Amino acid sequence: MENQTPYDALGADVLSLLVDTFYKKVSDHPELAPLFPDDLTETARKQKQFLTQFLGGPSLYSEEHGHPMLRARHMPFAITSKHAEAWLNCMDSAMDEVNVHGLIREYMMERLTMTAHHMVNQPS
Ligand code: HEM
Repeated sequence: MENQTPYDALGADVLSLLVDTFYKKVSDHPELAPLFPDDLTETARKQKQFLTQFLGGPSLYSEEHGHPMLRARHMPFAITSKHAEAWLNCMDSAMDEVNVHGLIREYMMERLTMTAHHMVNQPS
């Protein structure tokens, strides 16, 4: 389809399932889990809003929370490159589980890899 955004290509239902699957993996991850709240409901809700706009869909995150300023919002947490790799591994295996393949997966992982490394704020 012409003018299809990455958000359209992924689909809202798959995005939602992907984020829920991702945070299950985060909550089981020995190095990531301690950084996050025990209840990830609100975190997942915000991430769905963020990824919707990150992929060219409606600006759900900014409408509710203002400018993402992601690096600033991550400053309260000590994030090393090891955490970034762990985050990306959880996302990669969530994509396997939810069956996200092909160009959309390559596109997302490339952009998420840059974003994750941009969040690093502590030496390993
Ligand atoms: C929030 C960790 C990468 C998007 C958070 C929170 C933590 C965290 C601990 C707070 C959770 C809460 O209190 O609800 C990490 C770590 C990363 C990482 C360790 C590894 C590099 C990313 C990436 C993105 C992202 C790559 C974007 C694709 C968000 C968003 C929020 C968030 C949208 C919610 C911000 C808000 O409170 O409004 N992250 N994050 N994070 N993260 Fe990350």
